[in-house]
Amino acid sequence: MLTGREIHPIAYPDGEVRTADFRVVEAPVLAPGPGEVLVRNTWTSVDAALRLRLRQAAPEGYFVAFPLGAPMDGILTVGEVVESRAEAFEVGDTVRHAFGWRDYAVVRAGEPALAGVGTLARVDLELAPAQAYLGLLGGSGLPAYVGLFEIAGLRAGDVVWVSAAAGSVGSLAAQLAKINGNRVIGSAGSDAKVAYLLDELGLDAAFNYRSGPLPELLREAAPDGIDVYFDNVGGDHLEAALGALRRWGRVAICGTISDYGAPAPAPGPSNIFLAVAKDLTIRGFRGSSHVDRMDEMTRRVAGWQREGRIRYRETVVEGLERAPEALAALIRGETTGKTVVRIA
Ligand SMILES: NC(=O)c1ccc[n+]([C@@H]2O[C@H](COP(=O)([O-])OP(=O)(O)OC[C@H]3O[C@@H](n4cnc5c(N)ncnc54)[C@H](OP(=O)(O)O)[C@@H]3O)[C@@H](O)[C@H]2O)c1
Repeated sequence: MLTGREIHPIAYPDGEVRTADFRVVEAPVLAPGPGEVLVRNTWTSVDAALRLRLRQAAPEGYFVAFPLGAPMDGILTVGEVVESRAEAFEVGDTVRHAFGWRDYAVVRAGEPALAGVGTLARVDLELAPAQAYLGLLGGSGLPAYVGLFEIAGLRAGDVVWVSAAAGSVGSLAAQLAKINGNRVIGSAGSDAKVAYLLDELGLDAAFNYRSGPLPELLREAAPDGIDVYFDNVGGDHLEAALGALRRWGRVAICGTISDYGAPAPAPGPSNIFLAVAKDLTIRGFRGSSHVDRMDEMTRRVAGWQREGRIRYRETVVEGLERAPEALAALIRGETTGKTVVRIA
């Protein structure tokens, strides 16, 4: 019988993610039933938000926590169909689904996963390589696209700040705003990442948030203030944005990674009254709630990449067993662009 490896969390991280919190388990691979396919996974995704599910209970209303001692369902993955009992799929198809961090997955066609983003679907390899459907044309492209154009309502002339701008979602949001013709400021946690933002992504200004007080760094980069803040970080970054936003400014809260590993909830921004004083709109969103725009995003973003207007960098980690290590590195800020694990 075919066996495959699965990564199981065995303890919820206390603060930092540690590889000791996971175990690699050999498990028999079941045969697909009617309406199912067997997929040999080739690439799997590593996302900041996985940290929110490595807890006893995930934040209310969000995707559920990963149970201990079980495979991790709900992680975007691509692979090749090796056996099919589902009408619409054939052996050899390259597909995206949500049963990641394992060698093989049995997936039921048509069953919604990851709020639709991870429902079994064939991917178009003429548009982009398979792993691009995890980030650029998937779980990062969608929040960057809807966050900017719909949630923040990006307009001509807006000055935009994107935090965690060298990361997967951030690097795309920043470049989409550039394509729209906006002035874009990016921030990241190292000088090497700042150089990447300026030299490779062509942002108008960038700073290392570790190099001084955040409000001052932001003021230097945007002396006249900002109109849109695309928030990946929360905490002190959101507070700095509230200070820098101009009247009628907008905040799209995509994530708050600065508190994902925090032992206790942090107090809200001390200057939240500025939202009143400046008529600000602050709106959180989930990319998956806009999955109806996935095809539109895929077409447009793939087109911009083909034209050379989007640079897409990946941090590739080799080997399924290294997925936990990759997640820990991502949260520590050691990865750039989209982090993916090559399984086979
Ligand atoms: N709303 C949605 O639908 C949706 C979907 C996907 C992702 N997200 C959110 O988007 C954000 C980025 O996710 P991603 O998967 O693309 O990860 P990523 O940006 O590729 O990696 C996370 C980055 O966050 C930065 N970071 C970590 N701790 C930080 C801190 N305390 N302060 C400032 N920066 C910190 C690190 O970069 P530095 O070196 O710059 O510190 C790290 O590279 C996360 O908040 C995630 O939850 C939201």
